[in-house]
Amino acid sequence: MRKYNSILIVLPVIFYLFITFSYSQDYPVRSGSIIFLEFKCNKCHSIKSQSIECSDTLFKSPSDLSSVGDSLNSEIFKDYLIKKIKLNNKKHPVAFKGKKEDLNILCNWLQNLSSVLY
Ligand code: HEC
Repeated sequence: MRKYNSILIVLPVIFYLFITFSYSQDYPVRSGSIIFLEFKCNKCHSIKSQSIECSDTLFKSPSDLSSVGDSLNSEIFKDYLIKKIKLNNKKHPVAFKGKKEDLNILCNWLQNLSSVLY
């Protein structure tokens, strides 16, 4: 009887873990803004149009990325953020350390930050 008891507890736990794991794989709820905040990009940048403020209140001139998609596109952001290319003759101060999928989502999102509204 004791043997059965432990099986009754273990099985639902395994089932629960299996369901949670497979769902999190199928439906990744990772948006650009989440990745932006997760990688602390707001330490040096604000995005006023998305209500994202610079977290370092003492930092005098955070560059605002509200309309960064007007002049640059996703491919450029990707290369710039992994320090492959320069913009305005300078490489980005920090290299992106996350996964490639996250960089893709982040850069597509940045590209859509535009002052032009459709
Ligand atoms: C240590 C400070 C710092 C951090 C952290 C930082 N950046 Fe930057 N970023 C800069 C500086 C400095 C520039 C170049 C100056 C400028 O364009 O305002 C820049 C430029 C950029 C540009 C180009 C802006 C333009 O108009 O040319 C983008 C896009 C950008 N950063 C995105 C990001 C993203 C995404 C992250 C997080 C993964 C991030 N930055 C984290 C300091 C930082």
